[in-house]
Amino acid sequence: MTFLFNSDAQRGVVFRGAFARELPHLPFAIDPATVNSDLVRYIISWTVPRGLERYRNLEILFSVGAGVDQFPLAALPSEVKVVRMVEDGIIRMMQEYVTLAVLALHRNLPAYVDLQRRREWRALSQTQAADRRVGLLGLGVLARAVLESLKPFGFGLSGWSRSDKTIEGVTTYCGPAGLRQMLAATDILVCLLPLTEDTRGMLDRDLFAQLPKSAALVHAGRGAQLDQLAVLAALDTGQLAGAVVDVTEPEPLPADHPLWTHPKVLLTPHVAGATQAETAARAVIDNIKRHEAGLDPIGLVDRNRGY
Ligand code: NDP
Ligand code: OXD
Repeated sequence: MTFLFNSDAQRGVVFRGAFARELPHLPFAIDPATVNSDLVRYIISWTVPRGLERYRNLEILFSVGAGVDQFPLAALPSEVKVVRMVEDGIIRMMQEYVTLAVLALHRNLPAYVDLQRRREWRALSQTQAADRRVGLLGLGVLARAVLESLKPFGFGLSGWSRSDKTIEGVTTYCGPAGLRQMLAATDILVCLLPLTEDTRGMLDRDLFAQLPKSAALVHAGRGAQLDQLAVLAALDTGQLAGAVVDVTEPEPLPADHPLWTHPKVLLTPHVAGATQAETAARAVIDNIKRHEAGLDPIGLVDRNRGY
């Protein structure tokens, strides 16, 4: 049996140490040229490693990230379990990022940055947190953690998911009718959805039009969910007052793309959450132990749903 690691060297050092301590019976390999492919039971990778068909006895393909849209799920052998990353480090980073972004939009930061550039010393009117409603698209691992981080500020909180949910202190919605209801009652919309055929392009003109005038957007899901022309148009008409965008299509954006310089946009280079080696190694090791004990791994992807 072998675990094949296909990610960056720094993370590799941490993973190798953790595996040696916790799973000494499982050989750990970084260079595929050195392994007998028939012995490889587990692979961790961001994209599908070249020549995947060589690993005839592969049991689990772990994603380095929380998303699995980079894997061609339908083309992978059906007996291989695909597992997305669920680990404390990435969760904490996403909590920080979305809290930062929501507070930035709540406190008019893009407008103040613009005023500063123009050397204008002027206070803008400020809505109180209790009168600001934050709505999450997606109620998965990351979105639920983000909601917990936002609770102390006193915002009205809501969230939308595919299946019905009950979360204390959060108004929950599901399905198409639920989405319409939530959008109509959301001042700051946060997207933490996985990219699937259902969510591709869904942040479009029609969706922005369902938000109250001067709402704002935090986009930390995947670039292909956002219609970039539509968001620019909504910002220009004032339908959206501001946007914090972490993911784009393509990444990076071309140098002349208007999102780089739009005064109502804060743009970051896909850094909202990043897999942290120590906590990720722990999560993968725990999942291998679960698998060896006959349990499903945490983060097992449902290929029919695509996440
Ligand atoms: P989860 O799988 O835990 O949660 C996904 C959520 O989205 C679930 O609540 C699910 O609903 C909901 N959902 C999926 N499809 C639909 C749909 N068609 N309609 C309504 N709700 C839907 O994922 P995570 O929280 O771990 O991660 C979410 C995404 O965040 C990742 O897939 C990735 O794209 C992105 N991400 C971005 C990062 C960044 O740095 N910008 C870092 C990490 C992740 P239900 O609960 O009913 O199944
Ligand atoms: C992820 C990401 O999916 O970094 O983990 O985007």
